[in-house]
Amino acid sequence: MAPDPLTPYGNRPMVTPIVNAVNYEYLSFEVLRQITDGEIDGYTYHRDDNPTVREVERKIAALEGAEDCVVCTSGMAACTMVYLTYLKVGDHLIIFHDTYGANYKVSLILERLGVEITWLNADEADKIGEHIRPTTRMIFLETPSNPLCKIIDIAAVRKAADAVTAMVVVDNTFATPYHQNPLTLGADLVVHSATKALGGHNDLMAGAIAGTKEHYNRLWFTRQAIGTTLDAYSAFLLDRGLKTFELRAKAIARSAQTVAEFLAEHTKVSRLSFPGLASHPDHAVAASQMHRGFGGMLAFDVGEDEEDAKRFIAALQTIYHAVSLGATESLICIPYLTTMLYLPPERRTTFGIGRNTVRLSIGIEPAEILIKDIKQALACVAQGVTLDG
Ligand SMILES: Cc1ncc(COP(=O)(O)O)c(C=O)c1O
Repeated sequence: MAPDPLTPYGNRPMVTPIVNAVNYEYLSFEVLRQITDGEIDGYTYHRDDNPTVREVERKIAALEGAEDCVVCTSGMAACTMVYLTYLKVGDHLIIFHDTYGANYKVSLILERLGVEITWLNADEADKIGEHIRPTTRMIFLETPSNPLCKIIDIAAVRKAADAVTAMVVVDNTFATPYHQNPLTLGADLVVHSATKALGGHNDLMAGAIAGTKEHYNRLWFTRQAIGTTLDAYSAFLLDRGLKTFELRAKAIARSAQTVAEFLAEHTKVSRLSFPGLASHPDHAVAASQMHRGFGGMLAFDVGEDEEDAKRFIAALQTIYHAVSLGATESLICIPYLTTMLYLPPERRTTFGIGRNTVRLSIGIEPAEILIKDIKQALACVAQGVTLDG
């Protein structure tokens, strides 16, 4: 066989090559048959599969302790692929208010397709059994929850789901696989917005779903059918992000714990929620299902009202006023005005977010720099000073 022109001496490139091909030449009709019959792995058309994407799928599967993983164009594509693959008309879905806001938009589409939906607050998770019906097919949750960092006991939800053999799906974006592996706690599938900590640099959008090979096959079918396959360049960036993922996750969790301990003592901060604090109502559950720290997400109320929260954010110099999370830079937003914006106003507040609640995503900056920034911005709140932000 002729040498591979990319590696003529077997000298592998140090980074995963970006394969931008949309289609691939068949070596023969026999090879075409073998690929089509699933006898051999082979690349044929980008909507089916791509070698750069496949490399990332293997790495994310390993991080989650999964047999395999399907990577797609965004976190919401991943959530939607899960709903479309497993739910049909008449099925019942239990989902929590405290999940990323765009799930609400997708829920409107699902209802139009005949899926029945029950919304619960994360702090009602222990009563989930009361909401399970014979038709319940899926329970979808985030823990720590988004944005309030409430904790749901995944193993307890698994137990409740077993009454009707419903699937348990966990969006693990907030926790990250460095701190939590839902599959080991009884979840059937783990979903990620890989746009966040897995990519980690605010420069790509991707989603991932990890689980058994059987789930991989079903989800792969959906992706291939609807065309949510990630492009090779984004897969390359994600692959590069994954190289430092564990280092970043470790640094972020350490800083988050220090920042949370500082915030806990401040008079202009209330309802602070960080699962690593002993004062968190579900700290014990968090400690049992998370490891090596508690991630980098915090939620808290600033001062008395929305103006105080805006004053605080406008005064920050290091922390960026932006949505998204899990990045190298610390990011802060008011969920009422951003991630939860598309929920009807009354739904935005029913599960506990206030107009002065902020969601802080810690980055890799040293904790003392973040604390200095937060301290001076809270001083502006205390003095009623508004800076141009
Ligand atoms: C927890 C969580 N899941 C899913 C998503 C959706 O991800 P994407 O923006 O990549 O579609 C987000 C986005 O912020 C999120 O925070």
